[in-house]
Amino acid sequence: MSDFTNGFWPWYVAAISLVSILACALLLWLAGKATVKVQAGQSNDNTTGHVWDGDLRELNNPLPRWWMWLFILTVVFALGYLAIFPGLGSFKGLLNWSADSEHSQDVTQFRAEVAPLYAGFSAQPVEALVKDARALAVGERLFMNNCAQCHGSDARGSKSYPNLTNANTAWLGERSAAHIVQTVTNGRTGVMPPMAEAVGGEAQMSELANYVLSLSGSPHNEIKAFSGKARFSACAACHGIDGKGNKTLGAPNLTDDYWLHGWGEAAIVNMIKNGKTNVMPAQAPKLTADQIHVVAAYVLSLSGSSFPAPAATPKP
Ligand code: HEC
Ligand code: HEC
Repeated sequence: MSDFTNGFWPWYVAAISLVSILACALLLWLAGKATVKVQAGQSNDNTTGHVWDGDLRELNNPLPRWWMWLFILTVVFALGYLAIFPGLGSFKGLLNWSADSEHSQDVTQFRAEVAPLYAGFSAQPVEALVKDARALAVGERLFMNNCAQCHGSDARGSKSYPNLTNANTAWLGERSAAHIVQTVTNGRTGVMPPMAEAVGGEAQMSELANYVLSLSGSPHNEIKAFSGKARFSACAACHGIDGKGNKTLGAPNLTDDYWLHGWGEAAIVNMIKNGKTNVMPAQAPKLTADQIHVVAAYVLSLSGSSFPAPAATPKP
């Protein structure tokens, strides 16, 4: 327990825990000692003197033994627990146990158990594993557990999360084992700067957006596209003069029908105006190099020449 933001709180929490437990013990002790005063003129009939509903008298019997022992055991258990486990402020407990270390022990043990399985996979290049049904089954499970939340369980992604079943031309980088392993290991950050200043006002951005739509043969306004063409020079440094993108820069191909950040004039104008910083977090802390090797094979198996081209993003 080291989540406290200053030195006072651990002591405060520890004090409250200890005082509460000791107060329980004290209560038991005092209750055991208390005696009922016999009023003058009354016989000691072993009642507390409290009477309800006319004749219902409260007896002054001692607490049942079993109950008392249970109470004492509870207090002893509480003190024992706080001595052994982390519970008293920032005291780590005599066993030095923590949920974190137990978890990492479990993970280490699990990785040791599956190491022989992965060793067989790691001996082969990713491209060879694409034909290994067992590797693909393991890779699929890794994908479901670690990637599906962003890329979808069918790996077809969603807005801003790339479709990994696309053909190479629609990828931000090369659809290769090296690119997938590198992306999964280190994550990636795609950055398009806001370009409004380079392009001009709303009218100019709308024209340019129509030109971009024309590149993929998407429905567009011919006249606007014609006027927008000259402005594409501001984009060509990254997206290429022909708009086919640049995989080294991660600038997508604008001539295909795949729209990572949304289709249509409004979405493109929005990209020009605001740019985009799109982040995939590094997965290396969660996955071993062996696991990344196998999940890469699974991803690689999802697309490519042996697979039919995916359906284009549905148009509104
Ligand atoms: C938290 C969300 C998230 C998770 C989890 C995630 N990704 Fe990604 N991934 C992204 C985003 C966002 C991008 C696009 C980054 C960009 O625009 O440059 C991306 C990009 C990629 C790319 C590059 C695609 C291309 O077109 O070049 C690959 C390959 C990839 N992810 C594979 C995986 C695999 C395999 C896993 C699981 C081990 C995974 N991702 C887990 C969000 C995620
Ligand atoms: C500095 C490089 C750079 C420049 C200049 C640039 N872009 Fe981009 N653009 C990118 C990158 C990188 C991405 C992908 C961001 C990501 O990883 O998600 C992108 C994404 C896009 C997309 C989204 C594509 C999709 O599939 O949804 C559009 C549209 C776009 N850019 C249009 C333009 C236009 C129009 C211009 C010129 C005004 C322009 N870009 C200038 C780097 C650039």
